Amino acid sequence: MDSIRIKGGVPLTGSIAISGAKNAALPLMACGLLTDETLTLTNAARLADLATMTDLLSQHGITVEWQGRAIHLGGKITNNVAPYDIVRKMRASILVLGPLLARVGEARVSLPGGCAIGTRPVDLHLKGLEAMGAKIELDGGYVNASAPQGLHGATIVFPFVSVGATENLLMAASLASGTTTLKNAAREPEITDLARCLIAMGATISGLGTDTLIIEGVKSLHGATHAILPDRIEAGTYACAAAITGGNLLLENARAADLGAVLHSLRDAGVAVTEEPTGLRVCRANGLHGVDVMTEPFPGFPTDMQAQFMALMAVAEGASMITETIFENRFMHVPELNRMGARINVHGSSAIIRGVRQLSGAPVMATDLRASFSLVLAGLAASGETTIARVYHLDRGYESVEQKLAACGARIERIA
Ligand code: UD1
Repeated sequence: MDSIRIKGGVPLTGSIAISGAKNAALPLMACGLLTDETLTLTNAARLADLATMTDLLSQHGITVEWQGRAIHLGGKITNNVAPYDIVRKMRASILVLGPLLARVGEARVSLPGGCAIGTRPVDLHLKGLEAMGAKIELDGGYVNASAPQGLHGATIVFPFVSVGATENLLMAASLASGTTTLKNAAREPEITDLARCLIAMGATISGLGTDTLIIEGVKSLHGATHAILPDRIEAGTYACAAAITGGNLLLENARAADLGAVLHSLRDAGVAVTEEPTGLRVCRANGLHGVDVMTEPFPGFPTDMQAQFMALMAVAEGASMITETIFENRFMHVPELNRMGARINVHGSSAIIRGVRQLSGAPVMATDLRASFSLVLAGLAASGETTIARVYHLDRGYESVEQKLAACGARIERIA
């Protein structure tokens, strides 16, 4: 298994090109199941999770052709089973359920099971599809779903916000008969990106960017070309890299509107963020201050930025409190950061961080995707050498990490 070795202490300077968003690309790829015609997605990042989605769709019969940064999806569904072997690698595999059901009236999709950051059930996905006329049974670790008469429109009020459930139902509703209204829908930029792609494929959707999405089902969808939006989490992560090293980075393609709460917290902490014609410039010349943060659905502070922001707060002056409200077990980076000299205590869903002047390099272990990058950030700021094991977590969602960071002065290398 690969590790990453970092010799910390270099302020990062230069530009980093932000890649297409992983969390937008995954549902967009699932849209390949909604038509036999060719769907072309541009601005796709070379990520392990997208390779997993490629494998999943291929075994459903879809031709997935990568050409540079473009993915061409097309062809007929020949198999409606999403097997455990692929689903267990990536929870977002559940996103094929809605499209398969809407398209071929029957699907068998393995239940994803728990994951490192919590239990993460899929009940909202299933209840929503049931409200649209699907019959759902759980059998042998699989969801067996059928809708022989096709799906019909329904009004679905989510009891709490779920990104994945909103996406699954948005895709399914596009091909259902009649009107579907999704209330308390997720408003993440990736949802709007998905809705835009569906509209380009012939769907009728209104309420984009709001918590109520109204979908008038159509009989069929057609091919389209859609550019995947830039990854706001990757951008926020590299903003933290500039901040923690006292550097100055231009994050090309990053969009301020998608990063509102993160930029707000960075500025509160003493980081300068300015919009430039090609992206966002993030720089820090003075000290960092501790600020409190609570994760929330968009437009709140994203849970996917919590671990990285905690690394930053670990070296800020004063104390800060980070409260995680989305996932119940998302503090696995805390003991690893503490091994590097951070002073962090967890009390229930909150972490109290008492800033230290300097972290020190240590061998640490990556536990999940975003937690892994918090260790990279800590390593970039620490004195001495940090070795991060199990970097396959990082490869799931960050493209060319070492290359992007090394080009800005970081002393970082991958060790096989
Ligand atoms: C997506 C993102 C993930 C991000 C998360 C929250 C993708 C591929 N992944 O995950 O990176 O951290 O949004 O922004 O886009 N829940 C239920 N029942 C359900 C569905 C969700 O109880 O049927 C719970 C989850 O356990 C969690 C909360 O709802 O506590 C939010 O989860 P959700 O928004 O669905 O996250 P994902 O779509 O899995």
